[in-house]
Amino acid sequence: MGGWVWEERELLKLMGWGSKTKEGSVTEPAKTKVDMEKLVSLCRRRGFIFPSSEIYGGLSSCWDYGPLGVELKRNIKDAWWRAMVQQRDDMVGLDSSILMHPQVWQASGHVEGFSDPLVECKGCHLRWRSDELEGDRCPECGGELTEPKLFNLMFKTFIGAVEDEASVVYLRPETAQGMFVNFENILNTTRKRLPFGIAQTGKSFRNEVTTGNFIFRSREFEQMEIEYFVKPGTDKQWFDYWVEERLNWYVSLGIKRENLKLRPHAKEELAHYARACSDVNYLFPMGWAELEGIANRGDFDLVQHAASSGKGLSYYDEEAKEHIVPYIIEPSAGVDRTFLALLCDAYDEDEAEGEKRVLLHLHPDLAPIKAAVLPLSRKEPLASFAKEIYADLRQQWMVGYDDAQSIGRRYRRQDEIGTPFCVTADFESLEDKQVTIRERDNLRQIRVPIDSLKATLRAKLGGEDLFVLPEGGKVWKE
Ligand code: GAP
Repeated sequence: MGGWVWEERELLKLMGWGSKTKEGSVTEPAKTKVDMEKLVSLCRRRGFIFPSSEIYGGLSSCWDYGPLGVELKRNIKDAWWRAMVQQRDDMVGLDSSILMHPQVWQASGHVEGFSDPLVECKGCHLRWRSDELEGDRCPECGGELTEPKLFNLMFKTFIGAVEDEASVVYLRPETAQGMFVNFENILNTTRKRLPFGIAQTGKSFRNEVTTGNFIFRSREFEQMEIEYFVKPGTDKQWFDYWVEERLNWYVSLGIKRENLKLRPHAKEELAHYARACSDVNYLFPMGWAELEGIANRGDFDLVQHAASSGKGLSYYDEEAKEHIVPYIIEPSAGVDRTFLALLCDAYDEDEAEGEKRVLLHLHPDLAPIKAAVLPLSRKEPLASFAKEIYADLRQQWMVGYDDAQSIGRRYRRQDEIGTPFCVTADFESLEDKQVTIRERDNLRQIRVPIDSLKATLRAKLGGEDLFVLPEGGKVWKE
């Protein structure tokens, strides 16, 4: 553990801490409870996130999600899928491949225009995005900079055994194109009528010039994107609808409303395909920055792909008895940025049971571990009794088991990873067949019969009041 200080420093370097460029639309550093260093340290210490290939010194801007991180990430995507696909009848899902026909990226404009202006310092040879620099000198050494050159952000690779121009393919920089090129397949196989949407989650890759702020901007990340097809003329109304809908989704996951802000794009900053765009911004520790972009893409994508592929990508409007090209509203969110925003928002420090504690107020749907079973002692028959409860609860949820150190220390460990409930079994439990449920946020405890433990947890995880006690249960401690 002597290497911890060194590791911390290396970690901060890997996350691009201290980057001297402006971070896109980041403004006004936040006065939040958590700073990024604390969060990085917690993520690393508790197994949420590790630097990629860490034993080799890490790979800049690539991250590995550890045992708790992978659960949180999966829960975010599940929550999104439940709300955006499962609970709607105007949405279908898709999982398109990462590698696509190279013509896709010609038609989409990515080969031509998906570039950042890059400058290099003639002194220290560090590279910067010229549009993010303040001033015209190198932020590191003050040296002279080269003229900006456009640098395409797509990762290039080759398909098959021959590495020539004809076999070039790209790692997708967004999942969106998979949905545009499958428009006709989905129309034909699902018989959806306008308005309807296609949703998908998946990895995207961008060879970003400037990265940093931990997982905020990395080179490999995950997106949750919707392409919502509407009749032209109704696009403004659907754009407003989706902006509201998406903002509310973050609030429904427990993100504080005051930490979210809409930022409509000015005309001159709109992407080449967009008629309108609004970002959902979050107050990250480094300032307000984009969590999600909602764009009105008009008919740009279907028109482009129809022209490039020679396929008529249109929709037969039964009412008007004519073929039309739908407009597209695109709410495009980042899984990793949502992860970071949720952690920032959930992070808290307070005092519990006479001790300082760090806790994550994660929504129960998102918490990596829903409940932890804690036997008061490792001795038999209590250990077997508690393990039986553990085995039973695991059939339904991700559940932890911890019998090391004092009960206080064990509570602290669960609080720090956001486990909403601890289930404690003591020697009395062997007699009265009851266990104690302790709630993370308000520290209240109730004692419930084991027979109603699962039903009680189900209700509590579903958001019911802790004091709706099952028959035979009682308030234990407040
Ligand atoms: N299809 C539209 C599109 O991809 P975008 O604004 O470039 O739009 C959408 O990306 C979202 O994807 C962003 O709001 C952000 O959450 C996430 N994202 C984009 N680039 C990212 C990166 N380098 N690292 C992490 N997340 C990123």
